[in-house]
Amino acid sequence: MSKSLKLFGGTALGTLAVLTMSVNFADRNIASFPDNPAVMTAIAAPVVSSGLISAANASTSAGEGKLGLGRAALPEEIAAWDVDVSPDGTGLPVGSGSVEDGEMLFSENCAVCHGEFAEGVGNWPELAGGEGTLANEDPVKTVGSYWPYLSTAWDYVHRSMPYGQAQTLSTDEVYAIVAYILYSNFLVEDDFVLSNENFLEVEMPNADGFIVDDRAETEYPIWRTEPCMENCKDNVEITMRASVLNVTPEDEAAAEAEKVIEAANAVTETEAPVEEVVAAVEEPATDAPDPELVAAGEKVFGKCKACHQVGEDASNRVGPALNGIVGAEIGAVEGFKYSRVFDEMDGTWTEEELAAFLADPRGYARGTKMSFAGLKSEEDIAAVTAYLASFD
Ligand code: HEC
Ligand code: HEC
Repeated sequence: MSKSLKLFGGTALGTLAVLTMSVNFADRNIASFPDNPAVMTAIAAPVVSSGLISAANASTSAGEGKLGLGRAALPEEIAAWDVDVSPDGTGLPVGSGSVEDGEMLFSENCAVCHGEFAEGVGNWPELAGGEGTLANEDPVKTVGSYWPYLSTAWDYVHRSMPYGQAQTLSTDEVYAIVAYILYSNFLVEDDFVLSNENFLEVEMPNADGFIVDDRAETEYPIWRTEPCMENCKDNVEITMRASVLNVTPEDEAAAEAEKVIEAANAVTETEAPVEEVVAAVEEPATDAPDPELVAAGEKVFGKCKACHQVGEDASNRVGPALNGIVGAEIGAVEGFKYSRVFDEMDGTWTEEELAAFLADPRGYARGTKMSFAGLKSEEDIAAVTAYLASFD
């Protein structure tokens, strides 16, 4: 990360420097820069204070601008800015330079950042090497391994290097340095001389590595068919209900309850039935419930508490308040919004019905909102029923 940050910083600085230098250049080149033929003609032209201002006024003739300032830029002045070199050699000035001269020039002007052999110093970019790495996870992209056109190297060096002193190199010096970069990439011999004449003969290894993106014509039609908008499936089958899955808890309480349920269900699976109630089921229910059974039921009710309340201040929460539920009409607690299956159910919560429901809530009432796996032991059911029966 720090590497890319540093590089980014360098890039930002570099851009700033290039911009700054370009502005300076605009003033400077008009007086001297004999190596650029476009500038040579510009020398004769009247010196204007800033290329930028005249360029901004280029569309209007002298003094006619909104502010009555400046004049249109002369073609020569525009040409002085127009230094780009194209892959086909357009824009390349006449000149030449040898690997031998380039080595010295590179050492003096570039090696401090790019290394004596263009191998890069620290985080400064490497300009040589990296061949065969482009398909790697961390490719080394250099002039040699990556750049498809030599014109880019020439233009780049001529336009913006040395970093911080852009456009101080003569045309021949740029040729020599570019020749040396080629040499550093083992693309030419040490006696090579690069010039505007043999420039296009240099073969860049990655020249064919860039392709025109033609997927819109060649690939998209293969993958794209008319989207189906109706009756797209032969067989529609409901495999699960969202309310059973409980994928959308209604509120925080419900989400919280979900956790409790999981814990409770886990306990139900493993825990031995509450001992105190073992004998209780057999005994016929009496009007005065067995206090031990009720106590055991209170413990079981711990699994219900996340959703249900009983007692004096009981109110509806995720589930309805359960005061007086034993013997009450099914799905009839005031103010509670039941699921459809509950709304449609008739009957009363006899102990049998309650036991059947609590043993397997979803089996008993398919589609119920009560996301609770059920009580596995009959003893627990009897106990919790006794406990519920103690509230009216
Ligand atoms: C003070 C350090 C410094 C010096 C000196 C310097 N450069 Fe650079 N060079 C950079 C930095 C920084 C970048 C990256 C700039 C960017 O990405 O905007 C760079 C980028 C380049 C690149 C493009 C690399 C790529 O793969 O994108 C080339 C080519 C290059 N320099 C050539 C030269 C040459 C030739 C010289 C000497 C004439 C030179 N540089 C001098 C710092 C330097
Ligand atoms: C995750 C929350 C949740 C848990 C835990 C839970 N219930 Fe429920 N219970 C509900 C909801 C919601 C309903 C309403 C069912 C519906 O509308 O489909 C309900 C309904 C009931 C009803 C029917 C009420 C009526 O008015 O008809 C009873 C009885 C009941 N629960 C008992 C229990 C008992 C006993 C436990 C613990 C062993 C328990 N529930 C655990 C959420 C829960």
